[in-house]
Amino acid sequence: MKIGMLTSGGDCQGLNSALRGVAKTLYHELGSDVTLYGIRDGYRGLIEADYHVMQPEDFSDILTLGGTILGTSRQPFKMMQKKADENEETKLEKMLETCKKARFDCLVILGGNGTHKTANLLAQHGIHVVTLPKTIDNDLWGTDTTFGFQSAVNIATTVIDSIHSTAFSHGRVFIVETMGHKAGWLTLYAGIASGADVIVIPEIPYSAQAIAAAIEKRGRSGKRFSILAVAEGAISKEEAKMSKKEFKEARRNMPYPSISYRMADELKALTGEEIRVTIPGHYQRGGAPCPADRLLTTRLGVAAANLIREGKFGNMVAVKGNKIVPVPLSEVAGKLKTVPADSDIVQAARDLGLSMGD
Ligand code: F6P
Repeated sequence: MKIGMLTSGGDCQGLNSALRGVAKTLYHELGSDVTLYGIRDGYRGLIEADYHVMQPEDFSDILTLGGTILGTSRQPFKMMQKKADENEETKLEKMLETCKKARFDCLVILGGNGTHKTANLLAQHGIHVVTLPKTIDNDLWGTDTTFGFQSAVNIATTVIDSIHSTAFSHGRVFIVETMGHKAGWLTLYAGIASGADVIVIPEIPYSAQAIAAAIEKRGRSGKRFSILAVAEGAISKEEAKMSKKEFKEARRNMPYPSISYRMADELKALTGEEIRVTIPGHYQRGGAPCPADRLLTTRLGVAAANLIREGKFGNMVAVKGNKIVPVPLSEVAGKLKTVPADSDIVQAARDLGLSMGD
């Protein structure tokens, strides 16, 4: 069997341990009957036929390694079937040609939302595909969790933990802005785990007045400081009422580098408090996978290899409860898993007395 592997989209912790899980299982079960090919920089390598044969030793010593040994890139789904001119092949056509020329029996694709749309497109064009769910955002449909998420929660939690002491010393209000794109999972989990006082996620539009009231209430009860965990995708109640076009325009004209700086100004005007902003940014995606992600990626890698051996293509390996199960790519592609505003965990935060910024 000839199997091409690629990692696509924004990286995260656990990509290498997932590749290792797939490779070790295939080598163990199929021995010399399998050849693995590393496709460089995600779909870019598939489009440009940039791939190479890999050896078992390439997968040694990478369990704890951050990033991806294959490299990655962002290749927007909407560009896959566009032609620059009449005679030019589309990226999709080029990828299909690479698969044919290389005689890949299957592609193993590790990625998040955009990656899964393209993986599904390839499957619809007859390519055998098995995928693994990666992203620190945890916003992939069809799986309870994605790998990378837990490692990012650990980092974001550590950042907010550290902010506590300096916030206390100075009696300040701090905003810690966490990643997560349009989903609030990372902010919600890290916010609760680190004891943040206010958690603002995209799924629950915020009111600056409500946040100011929460800060002032803490002040009246004798608390010297407040810590706000704010998702990079947070939106205000006013913005939630806008059309997509109006929102895009408003954000284009926003005179701040990110939502947290705007919120800091809004809250300063309302409370008179000194407010500091901390943004850990890509730090949340870097470094070694945490043990939970090493375990998860190993289980997902083994499951992906077993799907290939059984010929069950067109699936993503997913977490459902305590099990790893196959989920058809057609069910995953194009859907976003956001935090339900009435979920148990949001309710738990509210019951605890945390403000959700609304
Ligand atoms: O999807 C992962 C993610 O880290 C998001 O949380 C964030 O919005 C985005 O990628 C950042 O993208 P880039 O690495 O291209 O700046």
